[in-house]
Amino acid sequence: MALFALIMALCAIVLDNTLHYFIFQEATNLVEAKINQLKEIIMGNIALVTGASSGIGAELARYHASKGGDIVLVARSENKLNELKSELESTHGIKATVIVADLAQPDSAEKIFAATEAAGLKIDILINNAGFGGHGKFYERDLVKDQAMMQVNMVSLVNLTHLYLQGMVNRNAGKILHVASTAAFMPGPLQAVYYATKAFVVSFSQAIAQELEGTNVISTALCPGAVATGFVAAGDLDGIKIWDKAATPESVAKCGYDAMLKGDLIKINEMGLNFMLNWVVPLLPRKTVLKISQKAMEKN
Ligand SMILES: NC(=O)c1ccc[n+]([C@@H]2O[C@H](COP(=O)([O-])OP(=O)(O)OC[C@H]3O[C@@H](n4cnc5c(N)ncnc54)[C@H](OP(=O)(O)O)[C@@H]3O)[C@@H](O)[C@H]2O)c1
Repeated sequence: MALFALIMALCAIVLDNTLHYFIFQEATNLVEAKINQLKEIIMGNIALVTGASSGIGAELARYHASKGGDIVLVARSENKLNELKSELESTHGIKATVIVADLAQPDSAEKIFAATEAAGLKIDILINNAGFGGHGKFYERDLVKDQAMMQVNMVSLVNLTHLYLQGMVNRNAGKILHVASTAAFMPGPLQAVYYATKAFVVSFSQAIAQELEGTNVISTALCPGAVATGFVAAGDLDGIKIWDKAATPESVAKCGYDAMLKGDLIKINEMGLNFMLNWVVPLLPRKTVLKISQKAMEKN
């Protein structure tokens, strides 16, 4: 009887220690994962943001810098980029690098890549944000403007992704955030080319995300609804109702950046829009969708 009690006591001690070991091990793993996540966020993470001179891009740059990450700011407006560089360096003590580039130029991605390579900057986060729209019937619009739009919104985005993604895959670490739009979810009469460019971006981002399965590199597509930025004036979109209740660029930037950190595939910033685009629009007849979509782009 005494022997049986002794064996039971020994078993209890072994079981207890084993349980403690596994709980401790699990807790250690969790803490390690969190520390690595924080390290990734805080230490020496370099992000390159295109279209950083205003709107969502500038806010993405501010949010990244507020987490202690260095940054490369890309756009055409040199003065605005230099102002943002000074602001971010003095507020957050990070290093910001300015690259002035016109993404409508076919060789711009190669030039940006060459500049970061020459400066020894390893890009951990690529944020393809630069983009613009344009109002009017396709056949009445200036084709040159739509060609530039396709170059900025799609071609340079693809080129930059190709150039930086290879390094990320080799290092088995990296993140890409593509700023697309809810425009990606339907055709856009009166903004035909713009909507098509964003559909391209969402398709491209998702396909890459799947190809990257099993690596530590992710691709996220941020799909904002209307946002109060220079986008409206740049695209001759003044007087269109949907921008009366536009989200702030700060909230959209935070939403997209956080979704990227989580490794989301697609992020729509508004719950209502998310529901409509995923659960209602796909059930409607195509001609009805086209009519609703055109109505949304008509000026007052
Ligand atoms: N605002 C919205 O309602 C909305 C909604 C959904 C998606 N988006 C998307 O969000 C992204 C950011 O737009 P935003 O709303 O923040 O508009 P924004 O304030 O007009 O910013 C656009 C940015 O893109 C840059 N850019 C434009 N053409 C460029 C070129 N040729 N070369 C280099 N940079 C160029 C601009 O910089 P420079 O002029 O200095 O070059 C600027 O920094 C775009 O991709 C847009 O399609 C916007």
